[in-house]
Order: sequence, then structure tokens, then C-alpha cells
Amino acid sequence: MTPSYLNEFKPPQRILLGPGPSSVHPRVLQAMTQPILGHLDPQFFQVMDEVCEMLRQVYHTSNFMTVPLSSTGTGAMEAACANILERGDTAIVCRNGFFGVRLADIAQRCGAETFVVDSQWGKPVEPAALERELRKHAKVKMVGVVHGETSTGVLTPMPEIVELCHRYGALVVSDAVTTLGGHDVQMDQWDIDVCYSATQKCLGAPPGLAPISLGPRAVEVIKTRESEVQSFYFNLKGLESYWNQTRAYHHTTPISMTYALREALRMMMEEGIDNRIRRHARVAAALRAGIQAMGLQLLADPDYRLNPLTTVVIPQGIEDTAVRKRLMQDYNLEIGGGLGDLRGKVWRIGLMGESAREVNVFTLLSGLEQILPTLGYEVAYGSSLAAAQRALVEFEGRG
Ligand SMILES: Cc1ncc(COP(=O)(O)O)c(C=O)c1O
Repeated sequence: MTPSYLNEFKPPQRILLGPGPSSVHPRVLQAMTQPILGHLDPQFFQVMDEVCEMLRQVYHTSNFMTVPLSSTGTGAMEAACANILERGDTAIVCRNGFFGVRLADIAQRCGAETFVVDSQWGKPVEPAALERELRKHAKVKMVGVVHGETSTGVLTPMPEIVELCHRYGALVVSDAVTTLGGHDVQMDQWDIDVCYSATQKCLGAPPGLAPISLGPRAVEVIKTRESEVQSFYFNLKGLESYWNQTRAYHHTTPISMTYALREALRMMMEEGIDNRIRRHARVAAALRAGIQAMGLQLLADPDYRLNPLTTVVIPQGIEDTAVRKRLMQDYNLEIGGGLGDLRGKVWRIGLMGESAREVNVFTLLSGLEQILPTLGYEVAYGSSLAAAQRALVEFEGRG
């Protein structure tokens, strides 16, 4: 028998409405098929400079060190903690979901004594609770905050948190993996010290790069650290010499992924960053209205809902995977299940980047309207579609 690996792999064209990766526009995929340049080729340097320039615009920053790391989002979490923290430092992480748990774990592994401030999953951490924790320690080096918690669908308002942390002399590391390109991220105006993201969500590229930006305080802390950064690969000082005009070899950049990111960012520039963010808000409003019209509950506090990711509470008696499997089989459509404590309890619906389109909202809602009644959850046919349509009209101020 011929082993299957001798057959060409032809993946199906899925509608990716999970927590990421999101669907990628053919223009971005096409960019990846361009000839490979050497990572020290002057023409590739131009690509690098253009990518950094567009990333600065998306982050709203003038930080020189704004570069795509060769990794996914978790690598950027590691890079942020490994470069800012030294053994014996104190760190606090605002932990309101799975990725806050991961950030605290990484900070601890980097040798910092790490404390956490928890909130109920579905809400952001309260600034007053963070201040109580900050007061307990003589010197806190870093506070980690997940701007958009992909496990719960919660958006944490950053300005108040940043102002508070700076009052106590702590640097702020912000995880914008789910928010960059899908919500406003104002690195300079909010005065964030380190902010990182990943390409596979609202930026609209495949997984594989993790844009990070370092503010002046972070650069100073990294420059003046006493110990060497334990990680060679994620040593940002070493990497800077490749991304700045020195162009010193550090590691071989993923060339095709850099082309993809350039094209994805170019598409964002054509659309306009504000229009892109507004598109995410618009389709999220339609999705929420449709979901609620079916009588389903949303997990996140209404005042703090993420647009790129909506968490839906799975109704009693409905089995999580039964619905997701049917969506995949019958609609070729992927949504996500719950993470950590929310496993089996919520669905995570992503409307990110190229996936954040009205047509996807209507396809998903009609799929759920078809599938849920067959599993014993009654839905008035068409109700969710009408509610989503109404929400779109209201969003445009035409309601
Ligand atoms: C908020 C957040 N942070 C970090 C990560 C980790 O990113 P990656 O899976 O790209 O390593 C994710 C991934 O979904 C995320 O949603």
C-alpha cells in the first residue's frame, strides 16, 4: 500500500472562526510563494524595514525596537519576561484567564518571585486589587497584563493599569496577541513598556511571527541588567543588532513568513487601521446579537467584551464537541472549545483578521440554528439571523 505521505497534501478550505489561527487572504499566501532571499540580502533589509515601519503604525508607537520575533505568541511571552526579569526580581501578573496563568508561569521560570492578582474569569482584574498587591512589595520590577484574554473573551482597559504600575515604579508587559489589529493598541499614548502579539489572529497572517515593541524604560532596563539573558534566541539586545543598521547575523529569519506579514500589514494599511478595528467591532456586535437571540449566554462582562473573540456559555445538556464536530462536517467551519477551567463549558468564537466578515457570522448562526435543535435545544428559526442583521444596521446608526 502507498504510504499516505507520498500523496500531495491538499488541506480543505476551512472557515476559521476559532481563537486563531484565523483565515488568511490569498494575497498573503501568495506572498509566501515568492523567491527566497538571503537574510542578509539588501533587498530583504528593505522588507524588514517596511515591516517594522508598518508594525509601528499598528502599535501607534515610535519605538525603534518594534520587530517580529521568529516565534508564535508564547515565544514573545518568554522573550518579554526573559529580558526584563532577573533572578530575585519581583513580578506581579494580573491573572484573569488561561494566558494570565501562562504569563505568571513564564515569569516564575525566569527566576522572578511571581505574585498573582486574580479576578473572576469573565472580568478584568480590578485596579484596586492590583494596587493592594503592589503595596505589599518594596520593589516590583514588572506587571504582566493580558490585554485581550482569549480564554474568556475579556478586554482589560490598559491606561489605568499602566498609570498605576508606573506610580509604583513597575514596568508593564502587555499581551496583545488577540488585540493587535482588532482593538486599539496605543503603545505610546498608554505608555506601555513592552507589548507583544502574534501574526495568526487579527493581523491576518499565518502563525509563525510574534511582533514585539519595547518602550524606552524597557530598553534601559535591558541595557543595564546585571546578568546575561539566559535565552540566546530571545536575547533582544542580540536581536537588535540584526534589526538595526548593524545587520549582524543573529539567527536565520523566516523569510517567507516575513513576506507574508509584510503583505498582511500592507492590506491593513490599504484598509486603514481604524477601519480594520471598526470592522472587528461591527461583526462582533452582529455575532453577539445573533447568539443572544438564540437564548444563549455570553460569558464576558458586557462592559469588557473583546471584539475578536466571543465566549458563549454552552447550554445545559448540549455536548461541546457534538456541536463543533457538526459545524466542521456540515459547514467546514471551526470554532474553539474552552481552555483550562472553561473546558467543555464555553465555545470560543473568533472573528479575527480576514475571518472577521459578515458572511462568516451569518454562516455560523445559520449552522447553529440548524444543529442545536437536533440536539434538543430549541431555536426559533431565523431569529438569530434577524437579530444579527438588526445589530449591523444599528451599528451603522441606521436603526
Ligand atoms: C492572549 C494570548 N496570549 C498568548 C498566546 C500564545 O500564543 P501562541 O499560541 O501563538 O504561542 C495566545 C494564543 O492563543 C493568546 O490568545
